Amino acid sequence: MFKIVEKSFLQDIVVRMVIEAPEVARKRKPGQFIVLMIDEQGERIPLTIVDSDSEKGTLTIIFQIVGKTTAKLADMKVGDHILHVLGPLGHATEISNFGTAVVVGGGVGIGVAYPIAAALKKAGNKVISIIGARTKDILILEDEMKNVSDRLLVATDDGSYGFHGFVSAVLQNLIDSGEKIDIVFAIGPVPMMRVIANLTKPYGLKTIVSLNPIMVDATGMCGACRVAVGGKTKFGCVDGPEFDGHEVDFGLLMSRLRTYADQEKQAMENYRCESHGK
Ligand SMILES: Cc1cc2nc3c(=O)[nH]c(=O)nc-3n(C[C@H](O)[C@H](O)[C@H](O)COP(=O)(O)OP(=O)(O)OC[C@H]3O[C@@H](n4cnc5c(N)ncnc54)[C@H](O)[C@@H]3O)c2cc1C
Ligand code: FES
Repeated sequence: MFKIVEKSFLQDIVVRMVIEAPEVARKRKPGQFIVLMIDEQGERIPLTIVDSDSEKGTLTIIFQIVGKTTAKLADMKVGDHILHVLGPLGHATEISNFGTAVVVGGGVGIGVAYPIAAALKKAGNKVISIIGARTKDILILEDEMKNVSDRLLVATDDGSYGFHGFVSAVLQNLIDSGEKIDIVFAIGPVPMMRVIANLTKPYGLKTIVSLNPIMVDATGMCGACRVAVGGKTKFGCVDGPEFDGHEVDFGLLMSRLRTYADQEKQAMENYRCESHGK
């Protein structure tokens, strides 16, 4: 059992949670994730490890409420226990001194981008971070990203804060300004990562994306998380979650993510009815 020791809402539907999981906290590296299962009836869901404290034996996750399991997790309280926390899983981000690294984070993907930006900075890179959200109210981790970046650029879709438009337009402006960029990391909604990868490809600018296919066992056995990369089948859980963005078949990923949309909608409605009835 894994105890929840902190919980706060970063905004309406985004939760930050600190969980006691000493073994995972000790071994984890940036870019890795856990799979958690709330209780015996629960499904297994993957979530990125945003931060960890090996002395306290804790790890931090940041998640967006999108369906039944994330809603149920958000309803848990400090002191409650999660049945299983499995990890750390997946390959860690390949970190070295590339030169200038641009880290692009969109929405809750900023939580995943943060440990990567921090590790790049620690390795001696000049880190330029671009973060974006639909509107100012739902932008997360601005201060944290500022602390690990040489330069932070912010965009909102509605123009309520920072640049008015998408993070991809900010990246385009940066390229047009003549900034010498050695590598780009893009983490966020699949359409965002696709646009960034398409944007950087003509410049031959190496672009790493962190994929979020549906995962079940997360050990490479079930095939649920398969993605096509460079025409070959890869498993997000054991071969990823990071891949060369120029090689990913994003169309296939998007259609596979919608596979269980009807069942997910029903499960969320049932959970809302059950929890309101309590
Ligand atoms: C490696 C990895 C790291 C992730 N890190 C984060 C994170 O740090 N923060 C965060 O908010 N989200 C993260 N996700 C996405 C998160 O796992 C899903 O939002 C969550 O599983 C949704 O479950 P649900 O029951 O609440 O929603 P559901 O209603 O079941 O599903 C909503 C949508 O979430 C996706 N999804 C559903 N089940 C799974 C599953 N088992 N595995 C993956 N995706 C699923 C599907 O696209 C689905 O349409 C990550 C996904 C992966 C693969
Ligand atoms: S989740 Fe089963 S093979 Fe990756």
